[in-house]
Amino acid sequence: MQIAMIGAGYVGLVSGACFSEFGIDVKCVDTDSGKIARLLKGEIPIFEPGLDELIERNIAEGRLEFTTDLKQAVSAADAVFIAVGTPSRRGDGFADLSYVHAAAREIAVAMTGYTVVVTKSTVPVGTGAEIERIIRDTRPDADFDVVSNPEFLREGAAIGDFMRPDRVVIGTESERARKTMQRIYRPLYLMETPIVHTSVESAELTKYAANAFLAAKITFINEIADLCEKVGGDVHDVARGIGLDGRIGRKFLHAGPGYGGSCFPKDTLALARTAQQAGAPLRIVESVIEINAERKRNMAQRVIAQCGGTVEGKTIAVLGLTFKPNTDDMRDAPSLDIVSALQAAGARVRVYDPQGMEEAKKLMDGADYCEGAYEAMDGADALVIVTEWNAFRALDLARVKQTMKTPIMVDLRNIYDPEEVRAAGFDYTCIGRPNLALEA
Ligand code: NAD
Ligand code: UGA
Repeated sequence: MQIAMIGAGYVGLVSGACFSEFGIDVKCVDTDSGKIARLLKGEIPIFEPGLDELIERNIAEGRLEFTTDLKQAVSAADAVFIAVGTPSRRGDGFADLSYVHAAAREIAVAMTGYTVVVTKSTVPVGTGAEIERIIRDTRPDADFDVVSNPEFLREGAAIGDFMRPDRVVIGTESERARKTMQRIYRPLYLMETPIVHTSVESAELTKYAANAFLAAKITFINEIADLCEKVGGDVHDVARGIGLDGRIGRKFLHAGPGYGGSCFPKDTLALARTAQQAGAPLRIVESVIEINAERKRNMAQRVIAQCGGTVEGKTIAVLGLTFKPNTDDMRDAPSLDIVSALQAAGARVRVYDPQGMEEAKKLMDGADYCEGAYEAMDGADALVIVTEWNAFRALDLARVKQTMKTPIMVDLRNIYDPEEVRAAGFDYTCIGRPNLALEA
């Protein structure tokens, strides 16, 4: 069995490395020659825990290769996975399918023998049919089937999610393609992972429905947190109280500054646009998008309020820039809105992130990039925790207080115990928990 993985980004690299770990020969292809050159030198272009060892091992065992030569990789492949980006299209929020369509055209030209073309990228319903049309138009003689096999991994936990998924969704009408997919996912079949067989269209919709549901769940608990603050309640207790109901579930009920990342923001928008176009608008999803965008913009106001109504001329330390811990991904991170709003309000912002500094520098102008957490808070009027990296969970509070100019802490991820931080002399505020400092 040979696989060509088109696109060596977060999904392509992780999926390619994991398939090679299943014992399959995998060639990862990318148009970005710089990325492939780094991979060939043994450098991993993204931060994802465990990925370096997995890649190193499978290269050494001769099952994993990297190349810019799509033709050579595809011609030898039994299955070709498309894992290129599907960002928001500028202006209208539909998914930009130009990379997927370009990949389909290149695959069509390069295919030899029966080939299963699998979409792993998140693509709107109807894209599988469009890929089939593109390939047929380009190569009327081609022997192939198109399968939708959406990916549900999370950054930061990607290898575990891929190797031990809650389920695998395989969308195809072709028995022959299904057999190839069964061979590819054989180790997961043996582990009795639920495999959901559907049409291509249902598989495409399942991916967007899953992301939109999770985004809605987070947005729901964020609004409950806001209500807790107004009426006196603790969102942790409410989340636990509802989450223990098996119909609701405990996961994805952590209130925070709003969801970010390379997927929830763009996928909710693309789904809402598809639904509007189809004449079946998803009003819940539309509200989620609006509430979350407003929430990210408003987070800076909490900092400003805590600083007595102005941050003009003040120094604010921001810890955690990536959209979540254990990744270097800065796409749509809440920190981008928060830092720029603080700067617009006249603050000087000193920032630190364990892995995201290089990516942040490309997207965030005018911040002071520091070498560590304590350096960022040196002389600061307030400290804001935006991303819950483990490194920030057990700061030495006495040292923090000594380092800062004023002991104000705004904890947007609720990683500290309010009583403990207040007892250490901080003016502390967080999300959806009793706000004693403000009430006092
Ligand atoms: P990414 O931007 O990290 O990587 C995409 C890669 O594809 C880039 O390296 C790019 O150079 C390459 N590429 C583009 N066109 C190409 C072509 N014609 N031939 C070869 N390479 C090409 O993107 P990503 O985060 O890996 O996401 C890829 C897809 O997977 C998206 O649709 C995304 O929504 C979906 N997805 C992402 C995640 C995630 O956690 N990042 C999880 C599930 C699904
Ligand atoms: C998400 C999904 O969880 C994956 O299943 C999916 O494959 C992926 O999108 C995708 O399609 O790309 P990811 O974006 O990597 O994965 O990260 P999540 O852990 O889902 O977090 C997304 C955002 O929601 C982060 O900003 C995180 O801080 C926020 N979040 C998450 C909360 O605010 N509260 C929570 O309880 C959970």
